[in-house]
Amino acid sequence: MYSRIGGMALKKVNIGLLGLGNIGTGTYKALEMNKGLIAKNAGAELEITRILEKDVDRERGIYVDPAKFTQNPEDIFSDPEISIVIELLGGIEPATSFMLSALNAGKHVVTANKAALAENYEVLTEAAAKNGVSIKFEASVGGGIPLIEAITSSLTANEFTEVLGILNGTTNYILTKMSTDNASYETALKEAQAQGFAEADPTADVEGHDVANKLSILLSLVFGERVKPDAIPTTGITGVTKEQIEEAKAQGCVLKLIASAFKDSEGLHYFIQPTMLNQDHPLAGVNNEFNAIFIKGNAVGDIMLYGKGAGPLPTASAVLGDVISIAKRSL
Ligand SMILES: NC(=O)c1ccc[n+]([C@@H]2O[C@H](COP(=O)([O-])OP(=O)(O)OC[C@H]3O[C@@H](n4cnc5c(N)ncnc54)[C@H](OP(=O)(O)O)[C@@H]3O)[C@@H](O)[C@H]2O)c1
Repeated sequence: MYSRIGGMALKKVNIGLLGLGNIGTGTYKALEMNKGLIAKNAGAELEITRILEKDVDRERGIYVDPAKFTQNPEDIFSDPEISIVIELLGGIEPATSFMLSALNAGKHVVTANKAALAENYEVLTEAAAKNGVSIKFEASVGGGIPLIEAITSSLTANEFTEVLGILNGTTNYILTKMSTDNASYETALKEAQAQGFAEADPTADVEGHDVANKLSILLSLVFGERVKPDAIPTTGITGVTKEQIEEAKAQGCVLKLIASAFKDSEGLHYFIQPTMLNQDHPLAGVNNEFNAIFIKGNAVGDIMLYGKGAGPLPTASAVLGDVISIAKRSL
């Protein structure tokens, strides 16, 4: 399908969106906000034409034509006009089955869902390859930070030896508050919840499960090793005390929740735990809700990528970057 902007004919790319929650709404909003420049960069006019969502009437601060909503995912998978499906439901199921249905229907998939990817990485990537379509997931690790594109494209001339990441904004915010305000874990968690940086049930974040999903995806991409999240030794931050924060300071360090992976002569090592970093380590200055990843490559040396690892618009930036890349290269 084609439309025109100015004097130029532009192809039209129709998108099906699964989930109009926090990130789905941010993605819809960002696509509207930057419509003109996105069309220019994609070489196509992108439109979300169908949305799978249970709650049509929820106040979202955006106008969405009610005719776009459906409660039946088949309306999206069987629509021949839809070539890209964005999955923003969250959770392992039914998100994985829905992504497989979209890929098997010949549609490209873009997702931010680290839980589904970490659990079903091979199944999803193999289904994409078998159907000759892409599955892209920049937003699944590091939110708005373009680290997956960097690892899988710009840095592919390197053998990687080490990856260290601050990959969860909630826990980084809590540890920062404990350090700067001398707050207890409980007080810092309450503040994170009041500021919208922690969920009402923060278990997945504070116990490190969210970081384990992200490190599992990184191990596949950086070292080509599949390790499921529950096989990654993980300690969250619930046991961190004010005394430990003070002890770190006394030693010229800061305490951060670090996802770590490195290779030596004995093989690949990986774990997640609260870690003391010297004040002069590049990750030591990554505070509050910010995320960063520090990578060693045998050609590039040390490299660090820093930015907002969560939130509707930063995450939408990564989701739409993937969509634009597919529209430009594959459609
Ligand atoms: N939040 C962030 O900053 C962030 C950052 C990076 C990546 N992500 C990832 O992005 C994804 C979406 O996160 P989110 O924060 O946007 O979650 P969310 O606010 O809970 O949004 C999910 C939406 O999908 C709807 N939904 C779920 N299952 C459905 C089904 N079977 N049929 C129809 N609608 C369904 C939910 O409706 P109900 O609420 O009615 O169930 C909700 O509106 C997750 O995979 C998350 O890990 C989030």
